[in-house]
Amino acid sequence: MKNLKIEKDYLKKIKLFQEYNKYYYDKSDPKVSDSKFDSLKKEIIQLENKYKFLNSKNSPSKIVGFTPSKNFKKIKHKSQMLSLSNAFNEEDLKNFEKKIRNFLSLNNDFEIEYSTEPKIDGISASLTYKNGKFFQGLSRGDGKEGEDITENLKTIGDIPKIIKKKNFPTEIDIRGEVFIQNDDFLKIKAKFANPRNAASGSLRQKDPTVTRKIPLKFIAYTYGFAKDMNIKTQSIFLKNLKDWGFKTNKYNKIIKGINNLIINHQYLEKKREQINFDIDGIVYKINDFDLQKRLGFVTNAPRWAIAHKFSANSSISEIINIEIQIGRTGALTPVAKIKPVNIGGVTVSNATLHNEDEIIRKDIRVGDIVTIERAGDVIPHVISVDLKKRKKNTKKFIFPIMCPSCGSPTIKDFNETTKKKDAVRRCSSEGFECKKIAIEKIKHFVSKEAFNIDGFGKKIVENFWDLKLVKFPQDIFKLDYEKIKKMEGWGNLSTSNLKHAIDIKKKIPLDRFIYSLGIRHIGQENAKLLARHLKSANNFFKLSLNKDGEELKNIDGIGDAQIKSIVNFFLNATNQKFLIELRELLEITDTIQLNQSGSLKNKTFMFTGKLEGMSRAEAKSIIEENSGKIVSNVNKKLDYLIIGEKPTTKKINLAKELNIKVINQKEWLRMLN
Ligand code: IVH
Repeated sequence: MKNLKIEKDYLKKIKLFQEYNKYYYDKSDPKVSDSKFDSLKKEIIQLENKYKFLNSKNSPSKIVGFTPSKNFKKIKHKSQMLSLSNAFNEEDLKNFEKKIRNFLSLNNDFEIEYSTEPKIDGISASLTYKNGKFFQGLSRGDGKEGEDITENLKTIGDIPKIIKKKNFPTEIDIRGEVFIQNDDFLKIKAKFANPRNAASGSLRQKDPTVTRKIPLKFIAYTYGFAKDMNIKTQSIFLKNLKDWGFKTNKYNKIIKGINNLIINHQYLEKKREQINFDIDGIVYKINDFDLQKRLGFVTNAPRWAIAHKFSANSSISEIINIEIQIGRTGALTPVAKIKPVNIGGVTVSNATLHNEDEIIRKDIRVGDIVTIERAGDVIPHVISVDLKKRKKNTKKFIFPIMCPSCGSPTIKDFNETTKKKDAVRRCSSEGFECKKIAIEKIKHFVSKEAFNIDGFGKKIVENFWDLKLVKFPQDIFKLDYEKIKKMEGWGNLSTSNLKHAIDIKKKIPLDRFIYSLGIRHIGQENAKLLARHLKSANNFFKLSLNKDGEELKNIDGIGDAQIKSIVNFFLNATNQKFLIELRELLEITDTIQLNQSGSLKNKTFMFTGKLEGMSRAEAKSIIEENSGKIVSNVNKKLDYLIIGEKPTTKKINLAKELNIKVINQKEWLRMLN
């Protein structure tokens, strides 16, 4: 009789749980608080443990809770998800602050206030709320476009599904880190390499049954797009997050002064062991949102924030071999193959030796016992050799004077700025004739920041090169799919997926296209400058006619090294051939002008002398935001020369000669209203 009553009571709880669960996961509208939901789950499980005869397929110990989404849709972030630059020491921090002071033209007595937040080593996610309801959750992806992982995110208890607070913005992307606590990780340790992998794997896998079983947590720390939000500082934003029902980090602080940042860094580095989740540094953000806005960002990292990493972990191991890797620009990088060691939870079997000079300086030899260091996501490197343990008969390492891949002589360039030979030795071949360079160039071409071809990974590039399917970038767009379909490891579905992934990338913006060519000295930022200046693919291809790079001489930010490199690129016959073919195969879209209707539209500017209250860099970004253009020389293409304190007279005279308007800072600002 007693047992019957217990069972009845148990089934009642199960029914209630099912009801809550349905609302919680399926309707994004929890009927009860998280804690009530959790305690009901606990009661049921306690009953099951006490009375072994209790059993239900709907018990929280067995059920999954919701139906999974089969495919992750790709969705654009309304506002890009940025990453962070790293600082490793006091000098890096001083530089970071100096750049900010320069950009904002701040006095040294102005104390910069930072919001400091432990950097959780997890997976970032962006949660969109519309009218207080959790609407959609995306992974970071490439920062511009993420995967729709809403259903998996809904399984996380820390993520509020409904927010009823009055001051909660009508639409906002709340961003933060999904992670797994160390104690929870212990229970599932067998299946994953580390907590970060466990979090990443379970968030991105397609079966939420698994996600559901992994106790993921969420800590919020920033926002993306926001409508109707009127908050002045990061620290107030963090307070609001808490008030709206998000978890925030209890070690977040407001700090002024580099010295105090370092004290806090030392404190948290010691404390790190006791914290129940992995942190790999501290993020410093300028607290004032207005200053953040003025500072803006470069490529994909803000000027107003930095991650101060914790010091590296190190271990001792033996060098088994020294191999030479060849990069896409022909640089020869020596890599030490070492006896695998565990450094801070990660097995390391390769360590970079940087370049030839480094090997000579440290006299690193095969067979040496060395100390290897690893800091977070930075490539492990050899820091020192234990000479006392050096075996007899070891030989000095001779750096190859011929390229190990193609046999061309290797050379060291003369650096015009330092007036010294480069530390890096390069293969002197023209590029695609060297197997290793060709493969690296193609890997770069398909990489995330370039053509971003889904599923076209490094292994496929190597395999297709060996099979002569892809020898040059343009071959990617002319693949023989009938042949691929029949190859080992490929089938109808995987081939048609690959075809689709390639076809949709035939349309590409000009800046990405330029970056994908892998021209030396032309990274993402320079590719953007070029694309903004050249505007169309037509103009870019016309550079091949311009043997002295004249057209590029007036772009602010593009210097002699870049111009020389572009000119050389166009002189190369192989490059010319592949550009002609690519032009046929692709649709390269014109650069979207940031703001085409600003008050400085079609006007060019140049500065001379020191400006008041702002740096050149800030003045430049103001001009660009208002559709104007900056040029780097006084010539006929210049419309306005803006003079500050102590201008160069030569520039003013030349401008007057050419009938260029010479104005002061106030007059310029008036043009902007
Ligand atoms: S802010 C400025 N704040 O670090 C916008 N990121 O390398 C960048 N992270 O992708 C994000 N804790 O996954 C920010 N308190 C914190 C963070 C944090 C961890 C991660 C995040 C981001 C990466 C940047």
